[in-house]
Amino acid sequence: MKRFAFGCMVVLALVVSAYALVAYGALPLGQLVGPEMRANFQVHRFGIYTHVFAASIALALGPFQFSERLRRRFPRLHRTSGRIYLGAGVGLGGLAGLYMSTFAYGGLVSKSGFAALALAWLYSGWRAYRAIRAGNVAEHRRWMTRNFALTLAAVTLRILLPVSAISGIPFALAYPVIAWLSWVPNLLVAEWAVVRKIPAVRPDLRHEAVASG
Ligand code: HEM
Repeated sequence: MKRFAFGCMVVLALVVSAYALVAYGALPLGQLVGPEMRANFQVHRFGIYTHVFAASIALALGPFQFSERLRRRFPRLHRTSGRIYLGAGVGLGGLAGLYMSTFAYGGLVSKSGFAALALAWLYSGWRAYRAIRAGNVAEHRRWMTRNFALTLAAVTLRILLPVSAISGIPFALAYPVIAWLSWVPNLLVAEWAVVRKIPAVRPDLRHEAVASG
């Protein structure tokens, strides 16, 4: 069951990442979104292209960072890929996402939803980085779990959009709600997983955690 869920997560992350790369790498800008969003993207070309390509890197690399087998067999690959994930993916993708949030379709509710997501994404990435630099593996895992749950907002959003359309909810009504619903539940699930699976490590036991990590 655990393997099945992990497999589904990998497939969904790769599919959405491939969608973004094809839609923004091969098609004219904003071809697959509505006219208002397209016009906005055309005014902020640099922001949207930076966001889409950088964030897609995070979405494509992220799942593999959680594979215990890969981490054990190729520790250097885990470190290199982690630096790209956090630096290029979350860092650049998050800053560009924060910038784009100020122009998001759907008014203040959408704008604040995406801005809060971007800030939480950047903050959790920073905490994960600081934790591993300090040698605190358990803390790094906790922050990476939260951070990747937020990366998966890109997947949740693209599941909720068609579901709301099929349900007959007008896009203008659904979009601002989805700007929040795409990540808050993800974060709650991550928090539940963190509490259950990665128990807190007391600072005085930190070295033992690193040694066994
Ligand atoms: C987790 C933090 C993220 C934030 C804060 C964020 C924010 C945004 C914002 C504000 C927009 C513009 C929406 C509008 O104008 O209404 C956007 C669009 C977009 N984002 Fe993100 N995003 C995030 C993650 C990702 C990830 C991980 C991907 C990876 C595929 C991604 C791919 C896209 C794409 C492709 C668009 C263009 C709209 C579309 O074609 O669906 N985003 N994002």
